[in-house]
Formats: sequence, structure tokens, C-alpha cells
Amino acid sequence: MKKLLKYLKGSRAQCVLAPLFKMLEAILELFVPIVVARVIDTGIANGDTGYVVRMCALLVLLGAVGLAFSLTAQFFAAKASVDFVKRLKHAVFAHIGRFSYEKVDASGTATLITRMTGDMDSVQNGLNLTLRLLLRSPFVVIGAMIMAFTVDAKAAVVFAVVIPLLSIVVFGIMIISIPLYKKVRLALDKVLCTARESLTGARVIRAFCKEDEQVDEFRERNDALTAIQEYTGRISALLNPVTCVIINIGIAVLIYKGAIRVEAGLLTQGAVVALYNYMSQILVELVKFASLIISITKSVACAGRISAVLDTDAEYDGESNEADEKSENIVEFRNVSFAYSGAGDKSLENISFAVKRGETVGIIGSTGSGKTTLVNLIPAFYRASGGEVLVSGVDVNKLSLEKLRSKIAVVPQKSVLFKGTIRENMFWGKEDATDEEIMKALEIAQAKDFVMKKDGGLDACVEQGGRNFSGGQRQRLAVARAVIKDADILILDDSSSALDYATDAAMRRAIAANQGEKSVFIVSQRTSSIMHADKIIVLDDGHAEIGTHEELLKNNAVYREIHLSQFDGEESA
Ligand SMILES: Nc1ncnc2c1ncn2[C@@H]1O[C@H](COP(=O)(O)OP(=O)(O)OP(=O)(O)O)[C@@H](O)[C@H]1O
Ligand SMILES: [Mg+2]
Repeated sequence: MKKLLKYLKGSRAQCVLAPLFKMLEAILELFVPIVVARVIDTGIANGDTGYVVRMCALLVLLGAVGLAFSLTAQFFAAKASVDFVKRLKHAVFAHIGRFSYEKVDASGTATLITRMTGDMDSVQNGLNLTLRLLLRSPFVVIGAMIMAFTVDAKAAVVFAVVIPLLSIVVFGIMIISIPLYKKVRLALDKVLCTARESLTGARVIRAFCKEDEQVDEFRERNDALTAIQEYTGRISALLNPVTCVIINIGIAVLIYKGAIRVEAGLLTQGAVVALYNYMSQILVELVKFASLIISITKSVACAGRISAVLDTDAEYDGESNEADEKSENIVEFRNVSFAYSGAGDKSLENISFAVKRGETVGIIGSTGSGKTTLVNLIPAFYRASGGEVLVSGVDVNKLSLEKLRSKIAVVPQKSVLFKGTIRENMFWGKEDATDEEIMKALEIAQAKDFVMKKDGGLDACVEQGGRNFSGGQRQRLAVARAVIKDADILILDDSSSALDYATDAAMRRAIAANQGEKSVFIVSQRTSSIMHADKIIVLDDGHAEIGTHEELLKNNAVYREIHLSQFDGEESA
């Protein structure tokens, strides 16, 4: 929590000025009942119209100056809170970008989005209210009480009873409702999560005729949210009636006692009116203060959730920028094991191999055998749980992420494109790529033809996630984006799964023709895609066997089985 305060630094002046102006306004407000009392006791009692007019003018002046102070305070408070949240949003967004893969796995998108939006709004609102009211409300309550005692100590004893009573009610309700607000937030998260899932998975949901179930689930969660909101609302709703009853009884006693004392000549009528006004001021401020405290607790809960995002470990970053550019092996695994956090079994076990510069490596195995896991260790998306992964002769844990990842171009198993144009998507691979370079990369990825057929060519629009392209087209654009990076290591994770055999073969040939000293890792389910590789890693339930196509055919049952099951009727390109 304290961490968040540093984002207030740029708004120090506003944070002082906003409460200050609010206090000035409050001081003016405390004089109003006194002036009104004077109007009654001096002006009206003596029939002095001039005095009444002058005092009324003074009241207008107090109001006008008070308004000016209040507006100034609002301005400073609004500016401070908007600026604060802006800085905080930047920081949180940047931090989420640095989450390690484990944290990305563990944290849901829906809750992160709530934290970036709803929670931020609540914090902004809370800060704004705090700056304006946190000092002002207690000040007015205490100030009005003191003023009441100076007006008439005896009659003001009512205040001494009413205020503690009111405080008990207000703070009691607050204490009950604060934990409830936390539950509301959690329930809201669940509703958002279902809504998001339904929207992103709309097609699948329809294909499996699960609309009704999805609607039911949403209804269930929404009902739960409504129920807790209603319950919380009911408790909070008690606040106004209960405080009003107490205050009104207080006022009745005050007027009764006041009347007796006026009758006895101990108190003026104006003084009774002033006491009544102070009582009303106290009521208004206490109710404001209670809702302020509730807003503040909501905001503090939200700030806690935001702070938790900032506390989430960032991806580990090594320090060294020195790689051995001449190392014989570009990638080396030494007894590497890996288990996902929270998963019982190891996904990879005791894997060792070395890949020389310029070599092509094929990785094959049944689904879930650990292929993606293995290639994800090379750019240190995940860190090995045991053993060492070396890139360019250096342990990846020692290399800085920037240096390490500059050496590697990855086509992930699930191709992700970004909203923009095709050219902009290619810039992800190389910021200053020329049209010729882009064309070359598209040609290697066998994407040139369909890109040229699109309206606008390289400027053709790519929708969010690349949804206006087919699965195979997305894959090829993702390959082109990696190829253009021209890195030492190219990793293709099942990047031709949606391509026909001929296109797959043409793509591999083009990549090989442009390979030079680069190393290529091809993950595939098809032996035809990897049989010509210099080394083939066969993964079976996290264990690896390494060899060439011929060796593995002879010695490895898993490989032989995969190959024979596909060989029939398949051209081996
Ligand atoms: N993020 C994760 N968290 C926990 N376990 C995971 C995670 N990703 C994969 N696994 C598990 O690790 C094992 C290996 O998964 P991996 O994705 O590497 O398989 P794969 O060989 O790439 O499969 P496919 O051919 O389907 O892509 C599987 O048992 C899988 O359930
Ligand atoms: Mg995979």
C-alpha cells in the first residue's frame, strides 16, 4: 500500500491546497449560525432593518467566498487524484508487461482488467473525497460543537450526548459493511470472468450448444453478486434513517430545553436557532463522513488489489550482456528438468543435448509430451527447475533478457497478431524493416501470395488477434514476423500445423535456403517436417531421445510408431 504513495509525489502541492481550502470554507460555514442569531436577536428584535440588510449581505458574502474556496479545493483535489491514477496506471500496465510466465499463467486476465479499470476509478474517487473531506468533516463536527458550547453551555449538553451516540451508529455500520464491500468486489470479479469467457469463447460455446449453461452460470454468479450487494446496501441504508432519528430527537430536546431557557430569560431566540443550525451541520457532516469512510475503505481495498499487482514478481532478469558470439554450441541443455509450479509431475526430466550454429533441430512427440515446454526454456520464458540451459555459451540465468531474446525469434504455438496493418505487425520483428525485407520474409513464410491479394497489400488491416485471417494465414504471418527478426535462433513451435503438406515443405525449404549460420528448432507432430533435421529430439512424457531420422527409426519405438502411422499416403518432403 505504502508503495502507491510514491505516485502522489508529483501532486504534493495540490494535496496540501485542497484540504486547506476546504478548511477555510468550513470556518466560514461555522460563522453562519452566529450571524443568523444576530439577525434575530439584534436586527429583528429591535426592528433595525438596516442591520438586517447588512447582516444578510454578510451572509451572501460568506456564501460566495465559501463557494470560491470550495471550488478551488475541488479543482486541486480532482487534479491530484486524476494525475495520481494516471501515473499509477502507467506503472501497473508496465509492470504487468514484465510479469514472468508463471505469473501470467496464475493471474486471470479478467481480474487484471478490473484492477486497471474499476479499481483505479475507485481509488481516484477515494483520493478525491479524502482530500476534500477527511479533515473538513471532523473539523466541522468539532467546530460546531465548540461553537454550540460558546453559545450556551447548558443547552449544548445535548450535543455531548448526541454526537457520541451518532458516532457509535455511524462507525458501527461502517465496521459491518467494510468486509462486505470486499465480498462484493470478489463477486464482481467472478461475474466479469464469466462474461469474458463467454465473449471470447462465443463460437465454441455455440458449437457445443452450451449457451444455456453459460447463461445459467452467468445468472448464478450475477445473482450471487446482487444478493451480496443488496445485503450490503440494506445495512448501509440503515445509516440515514438511524442517524436522522437520533438527530431529530436531539433537536427536539434542544428546542424543548431552549424554549424553557428562553422563557426564563436565560437564552435568546437567536441562540436557539444557532444551536439548531449547529446540530444540522453536525448531522450533515457526520453522514458525509460515514460515506467518506466507506468510500475510503472501498478505495483502500481496491488500492490493495492494485498494489498486489505491483508486488507480483517481475520476470527475473540476468545481468550479463556478454554472450560468447563464437561459441561452438548455440544452445545447450545440461541435465535439464522442469516442472510447472503447482503441477505434481515434471514436464521435462534430465534432458541433455547440444546444438551447433547452423544446425536444424526437429522436436517431435505426442501431445503433452513437453515439446512446447522444452522450447520455452530457450528464451527463458520459464526457468529450468534443475540443470542448465546455455545460449551462446552462457547460462540463460546470467544473461539479461534483452540480450538473450535479441538472439531468439519465436513463433509460438498459438499465433497472436496485433491490431494494425500487416506492415506494423512485421515491425514487431524488426522495427525499421524496409518493404523489401518484409516482402522477403513473407515470401519465406509462404505468405506473400495471400498478402498481395488483400486490399492494401502490406497496409491491409489486421483485426485484434488477427481474426480476419485464417488459422494457416495467421501462422504464416507469425512465421514471417519471426523470420524478419533475423536472430541466431529461430523457434517454430508447431507453426505449420494448419498448413497443407506442400506449403509446409515449401516453407521449410525457404527457411533452410536462408538459414546460413542460424539454428532452427522445428517442433512438429509430423515426421515429414523434421526428418531432414540434423538432430531430432523425440520426447516421450518428458524424457528425450536424440538422434537422426535413420537412427531413431532403427532404435526408437515412439519415433518409429509416429513415422509409420503417418508414412502411409503422405509425401515425405
Ligand atoms: N502453463 C502450464 N501449467 C501447468 N502445466 C502445464 C502448463 N503448460 C503445459 N503444462 C503441462 O506440461 C506438459 C507438457 O506440455 P507441453 O505444452 O510442453 O506439451 P506439447 O508437447 O507442446 O503438447 P502439444 O503437442 O499439444 O503442443 C503437459 O502435461 C501439460 O499438461
Ligand atoms: Mg505444444
